[in-house]
Amino acid sequence: MSDADVDKAQIPEEEMKDKFCDPENPVSISFRDISAAAYKIRDGVQYTPCSLSQMSQTYDMQIYFKKDFKERGARFTLLQLSPEQKKKGVIAASAGNHALALSYHGMTLGIPITVVMPIVAPLMKVSACRQYGANVIVTGADIGESKKHAMGISKIKGFLYINGYDHPDILAGQGTMGLEILSQVPELDACIIPVGGGGLIAGAALAIKSLNPNVQIIGVESERCASFSAALKAGHPVYTKSLSTLADGLAVPTIGVNAFCTAKSLIDKMVTVKEEYIALAILRLIEQEKAVVEGAGATGLAAVIQGLLPELKGKKVAIALCGGNIDTTALGRVLERGLAAEGRLVRFVVTVSDRPGGIAELTKIIAGLGVSIKDILHERAWLKSDVFSVQVKCVVETRDMEHSKELERKLREVYSQVVWGPQYTGTVDSE
Ligand SMILES: Cc1ncc(COP(=O)(O)O)c(C=O)c1O
Repeated sequence: MSDADVDKAQIPEEEMKDKFCDPENPVSISFRDISAAAYKIRDGVQYTPCSLSQMSQTYDMQIYFKKDFKERGARFTLLQLSPEQKKKGVIAASAGNHALALSYHGMTLGIPITVVMPIVAPLMKVSACRQYGANVIVTGADIGESKKHAMGISKIKGFLYINGYDHPDILAGQGTMGLEILSQVPELDACIIPVGGGGLIAGAALAIKSLNPNVQIIGVESERCASFSAALKAGHPVYTKSLSTLADGLAVPTIGVNAFCTAKSLIDKMVTVKEEYIALAILRLIEQEKAVVEGAGATGLAAVIQGLLPELKGKKVAIALCGGNIDTTALGRVLERGLAAEGRLVRFVVTVSDRPGGIAELTKIIAGLGVSIKDILHERAWLKSDVFSVQVKCVVETRDMEHSKELERKLREVYSQVVWGPQYTGTVDSE
């Protein structure tokens, strides 16, 4: 059956609905569901570390990073299928980690998996799903379009559709991360969890609050797709336009109805982070924690860096970092943005003498301060003043913001025309 056939098939609207995620009848999972999931998946998922980070000192709180994979819900849901459904297989629409988790556990359990990924899905996630043996269909401008396509296939071929952030078994499976965190960090004060469709925070918050209601649960979204915050405001899930974000795994325009029903009374605070802080968090996790974390996974630390959680100073805080699937090309760009946001990559234009030695003098000043030139270009044609001047454009690497300021001061002392920047302003495209 071709893609076109699926899209043309006249499936009644009623049948296209996901019966596990019914807005008219949302369900709240129970602590018992999470315990059952923990028992069932105990041998099939990794027991991941949650250790005290050396970044604790920098942010004046005891930070424990839970380096997880977001695979628990997928494994539990597959194990819960009937024998017939295990034979037929399942289908999901996902731009990333849910697709990966289903593909991987489908392979280990011998269950056929089809994943429909939007055209914007990161390439490395698409190829990893294929490597795990899943049937991967790349179609749809966004996750909504991919989901429609996946639902069509599910009806025609009898695959079960599994919503990655709202199927009750997904929530129960994800909740087991909360159990693990509590057992790994005694006397925990707060737990910070990234929020996309809301499944992870729903399960983990229920697990944690059931065992220790004093732990603060903090959800984090990208400000470019703040759909959970919008739902809390409206009192129910609402469509929220999603703009492109480094946290691609969190770009879910309408959060899950079961996730919302389960989580709404358990979340103490929701915050939204800016893109430059997500880039900075990715950079710092690589440099200081030696951890490659994708944008979605890094939002928890981004919230701390952005200063959105001052009440956590001096407290014991677990931050979920669940996902390291970032394209290497994207990672390169993100690191550059992170360096620029920190003032360690700066750009300036300076007008120097065009006589022999003019540019040499400039490079000598730069080298004298221990600054490294990354790019340098000189242009004469656009200068309107002195014909014996030349404009030199530089991109340089410095140790930190203070080092950059030192360079700026020195250049202004020596040259009358220095245009500093444009530095990375940190404003988002739509601003
Ligand atoms: C790395 C990472 N962290 C957190 C989440 C949030 O999970 P949920 O969509 O259940 O809210 C996602 C979603 O895919 C993710 O990819």
